[in-house]
This record gives sequence, C-alpha cells and structure tokens, in this order.
Amino acid sequence: MMNIRPKKEDDDLAIKEIYSLYWTDKYFLKHTLERLKDSLDPLAPKISYFVAEEDSVVVGVIGFRGAPLHMQFFSKTSNPAELYILAVKNQKFGVGKNLIKKIISETKKLGYTEIVLFSSVSFKNSWSFYDHMGFERVESAIAPNEEQGQTWRVEL
Ligand SMILES: CC(C)(COP(=O)(O)OP(=O)(O)OC[C@H]1O[C@@H](n2cnc3c(N)ncnc32)[C@H](O)[C@@H]1OP(=O)(O)O)[C@@H](O)C(=O)NCCC(=O)NCCS
Repeated sequence: MMNIRPKKEDDDLAIKEIYSLYWTDKYFLKHTLERLKDSLDPLAPKISYFVAEEDSVVVGVIGFRGAPLHMQFFSKTSNPAELYILAVKNQKFGVGKNLIKKIISETKKLGYTEIVLFSSVSFKNSWSFYDHMGFERVESAIAPNEEQGQTWRVEL
C-alpha cells in the first residue's frame, strides 16, 4: 500500500539515494540536498516536501513552494505555487501520479490558484509525463542557472 506523507528528517538519506539516480551534476545535487533542510531554516524560501512510502520504504519525493518571481512570470493567476522537485525510485508504478495528486490537493488547501514548473532539457524524458498529468506547456525558458528548459502550468 502506498502512503503519501510529509517528509521527516529521517527520510533525507533515502531521498538522497533517489536524487542520485537522476542528478549526476555534483553541484546541483549538493544544492538540492541542502534545500531539503530549508524547512529548518526560517529565513530560506520554504519548500514543503512529501514522500511516497511503500512498506515503510521511501519510493518517491515531491517538493513545492510559493512560486519565486522568476516562475510567477509563467503563471496566469494571482497565487501560483511552484513544483520544485519530483523524483521516484522506480518509474511507471504510479508513484509520480500519486505525488502530483497529493500536491494538487495540498496546494489547493493552502489557497494557491495554480502550479507552475520548469523542467530542464536534461529531463526531457519526463516532459510528456507532465502533459499526461494535465499540465499545459507555457513556453521554453532558461533557468536562473542558465539551463534551457520548458515551463508548464495547471490551474487549481
Ligand atoms: C517523471 C516521473 C516523476 C514520473 O513518475 P512515475 O512514477 O514514473 O509515473 P507514473 O507511473 O505515476 O505515471 C503516471 C502516468 O503517466 C504516464 N507516464 C509516466 N512517465 C511518463 C513519461 N515519461 N512520458 C509520458 N507518460 C508518462 C504513465 O504511463 C501513467 O499513465 P496512466 O495514468 O495513463 O497509466 C519519474 O519518471 C521520475 O522520477 N523521473 C526521473 C526524475 C525526473 O525526471 N523528474 C522530473 C524532473 S523535472
């Protein structure tokens, strides 16, 4: 049975292993792992993380936050959230879909009006996943770190 719940500090090692499956860029990996601790730093932009758990094993992670300025540009409503990160341990077992469903309900509950996201060309394999999940492509874009990619949005 899959359970989706807020991340706990104990989950960080399992999350690190999942990130390492896909992020080989050491700098990005380090930055992303440091971001897991944002929730402990009141001054940092707050990312809310949820994990998918199966038989007490963490099999996926998703994080969102209020959309930063550079992402608000791709929104059409007043209070967008940003899907910050998503990764699963084993692909195509429904974990990604359940994590997306969870943040759709959580962001709605928090009063967000929309979810926006950026995905870089190095993750092009996952782009049709977002199309399939009902996200609408906005435009191609360049991330603050100058990576080329694509943006999506979905209204809540
Ligand atoms: C992208 C990712 C999160 C998808 O999660 P997943 O658990 O493999 O996806 P699911 O099994 O929940 O798939 C849900 C639906 O999307 C479809 N789908 C999954 N991956 C897809 C893809 N790459 N392209 C098109 N459709 C896809 C599934 O067939 C399924 O369809 P259905 O509901 O009609 O049966 C996962 O592949 C992943 O972690 N990829 C590596 C990291 C990554 O790319 N993260 C995103 C970076 S921006």
